[in-house]
Amino acid sequence: MARRLPVVGGNWKMHTTRTEARVLVAALRAELGGLPGAQVVVFPPSPWLGDVADALAGSNIEVGAQDVHWEPKGAFTGAISAPMLAGVASWVIVGHSERRHVFGETAEETNAKLRAVVAAGLRPVLAVGERREESDRTADVLRRQLDDGFRGFHGLPPEVVIAYEPVWAIGTGLAASPEDAQARCALVRSMLAERFGAPAADGCRIQYGGSVNAANIEGYAKQPDIDGALVGGASLDAAAFAAICRAVAAA
Ligand code: 13P
Repeated sequence: MARRLPVVGGNWKMHTTRTEARVLVAALRAELGGLPGAQVVVFPPSPWLGDVADALAGSNIEVGAQDVHWEPKGAFTGAISAPMLAGVASWVIVGHSERRHVFGETAEETNAKLRAVVAAGLRPVLAVGERREESDRTADVLRRQLDDGFRGFHGLPPEVVIAYEPVWAIGTGLAASPEDAQARCALVRSMLAERFGAPAADGCRIQYGGSVNAANIEGYAKQPDIDGALVGGASLDAAAFAAICRAVAAA
């Protein structure tokens, strides 16, 4: 099996002013512009996508959007479509737990977004993960989210990344242990293998996300089924995010 290139995402969520975004991306370009051994993607707030894409032009750091609407165009005030993102972003996060649980995104909507992203030629990061009250049935939750997310797909979309992010670990400082995260990511891989076959599952990159920082990344980076991280809070600090990316690349 060819080694999977790990991928580290920085999800800025609803943080940064325009000036802060410019400063952050300049620092990231200086720190990580030529990093071998890991793919780095930043997910800025949508108003700064153009600025960030311009600032990263010619570097190997890629740009993604945090969410998308499923329709290509129409009377959907405030929404952004996948065809609009094409050209400025190359990745889109779909089904982040904040979209599912704060904004009430349904399984059908997540599925429609995933289809829209693939149809537009963008690469999806499908986020899955259980809530604290679902911890006793994590496997069921993950299976349902994967089944619902990929409903209607006959093959694993090329270059799709899965982000396993237990909801209770996001923004809480209560990161999953590397062993638990490895077990869940291996479970996700086995579910992908059942559905799409072992070769597709073996080639799919699966990230861990939830309170990842420069101090704990090494534990995740060395796990066999964890292929990088989706980082929230620590991605707003250029030095911390750069350290995370370097640790992943070195593992
Ligand atoms: P934190 O790293 O802030 O816990 O956020 C994780 C996350 O939700 C990334 O998408």
